[in-house]
Amino acid sequence: MDMNIFIQNIPKAELHLHIEGTLEPGTLFRMAERNGIRLKYNSVEALRRAYRFDNLQSFLDIYYEGAGVLQKEIDFYELTWEYLLKAKAQNVRHVEIFFDPQTHTERGIAFETVINGIYDALSDGSRNLDISFCLIMCFLRHLPESDAFETLSQALDFKDKITAVGLDSSESGNPPSKFKRVFEKARKEGFLSVAHAGEEGPPEYIWEALQDLNVRRIDHGVRALEDPSLINELRHRQIPLTVCPLSNIKLCVFKTMQEHNFKKLLDQGLCLTVNSDDPAYFGGYVAENYLALQNAFQFTRNDIAQLAINSFSAAFISEDKKDIFIEQIKKMVE
Ligand code: HPA
Ligand code: ZN
Repeated sequence: MDMNIFIQNIPKAELHLHIEGTLEPGTLFRMAERNGIRLKYNSVEALRRAYRFDNLQSFLDIYYEGAGVLQKEIDFYELTWEYLLKAKAQNVRHVEIFFDPQTHTERGIAFETVINGIYDALSDGSRNLDISFCLIMCFLRHLPESDAFETLSQALDFKDKITAVGLDSSESGNPPSKFKRVFEKARKEGFLSVAHAGEEGPPEYIWEALQDLNVRRIDHGVRALEDPSLINELRHRQIPLTVCPLSNIKLCVFKTMQEHNFKKLLDQGLCLTVNSDDPAYFGGYVAENYLALQNAFQFTRNDIAQLAINSFSAAFISEDKKDIFIEQIKKMVE
């Protein structure tokens, strides 16, 4: 079996995926048209040409603009369903999906429109595609703490549909400590927590995510390597990092995949997982991310299998469920 097919076939969980980041240009145009929204770009090709980013912020500007075509519940449903079909084709068996309610409520779209559309598609995917799921609600860190509190209070009506809270958007200048009190309230309400930290921001932000937000996983976290005591902490506690290799190249966190520190982080004994972040914008879904790493670092089948195992051990699923998938993966490399 060639490596490409092996990567496609191995059971995987995806733990770092922004549903708004799966909006493919063709879908974006179709939704703009049916919702009567005028776009700045007059073709799918022109839009694709705009997908060149210098850093996180230059991406976020286009990503928030694109999300403007999502208006009705059916739009959120179709967005999610299209992602699930792609995930199914790559044998993704479990997804933990980020959504950004504030991106939509700020434009006058109701919280329930967003969550019901996404959740109904995920429920159908669980029944008909055999992909299990959980939802992670992210707060936009460039907005004030008070807005995050407001979003959390809206989420309480949908508590049974949301597993965890997260933190995303512009990292520099918006440290995790800004949301310490919001996360305290969220944890009291029973939500687990994760946070983007150490993508562009310094190692101190990863410390804050651990200490102030009590996170179970760090999203990105690649800048941890700059702080040996932080590496010790992450290794000792086996806090997973949800790394997104193609995203890191597109947003110029590293110049090339060969220069990515993924292998160095692995060699430090950390639990790393491979994820696609915003696949419609970064040129690949989860299998393409595994393949890019394999190409750059000559990973063996055993290396790939270990990363797939990590994706399940880091997931918010029962130990029994983890064991089932891990056994399946081990059988593939026997
Ligand atoms: N970082 C921060 N915010 C985001 C990202 C990311 O990679 N993708 C979507 N929102
Ligand atoms: Zn992300």
